[in-house]
Amino acid sequence: MRSIILYASPHHGNTKKVVERMAKKIGAKTVDLEKEAPPDLSGYRLIGLASGTYFGTLHQSVVKFAQEAAFIPEHRVFLADTCGMGYKDYTYQVRKLLEERGVVCLGRYQCPGYDTYGPWKFLGGIRKGRPNEHDLRMAEQFIQRMWKEAK
Ligand SMILES: Cc1cc2nc3c(=O)[nH]c(=O)nc-3n(C[C@H](O)[C@H](O)[C@H](O)COP(=O)(O)O)c2cc1C
Repeated sequence: MRSIILYASPHHGNTKKVVERMAKKIGAKTVDLEKEAPPDLSGYRLIGLASGTYFGTLHQSVVKFAQEAAFIPEHRVFLADTCGMGYKDYTYQVRKLLEERGVVCLGRYQCPGYDTYGPWKFLGGIRKGRPNEHDLRMAEQFIQRMWKEAK
């Protein structure tokens, strides 16, 4: 089963760490939406969309992709985010958007990510060292579940 994870991770590369571990676990292709053009999705079954959280939602490149990508009924999508303040479902907007387009969303993964935005930078940042090894192992477990569910 072909899998791909499209992501943006401009703040500290936090999400990129998560995406790379997930991709390695299931042999998925990865695409940095800020640097690379997304490929034709028609040959893929499992599609991940991932980024840091920016002002309460996923990165604008991920939102745009979710709005415009040529999804087909066979696609199975999952969402992932890293964030400074992990008390909310920041994937909600994108999931809603996808569901309105008829796209099947299998699940979401979230973990903390080192955050030096705004006032946090004067404190040396919050969530230092995150994602950590535990977060990455949880990401591996999550992607294995997504992979099984997409089959
Ligand atoms: C401009 C900006 C806005 C952010 N907004 C939020 C937010 O609304 N909620 C939150 O929990 N974290 C927020 N963060 C923290 C990031 O989501 C967090 O550091 C994330 O791990 C960054 O991921 P990345 O390194 O993959 O880009 C923000 C960071 C930046 C730079």
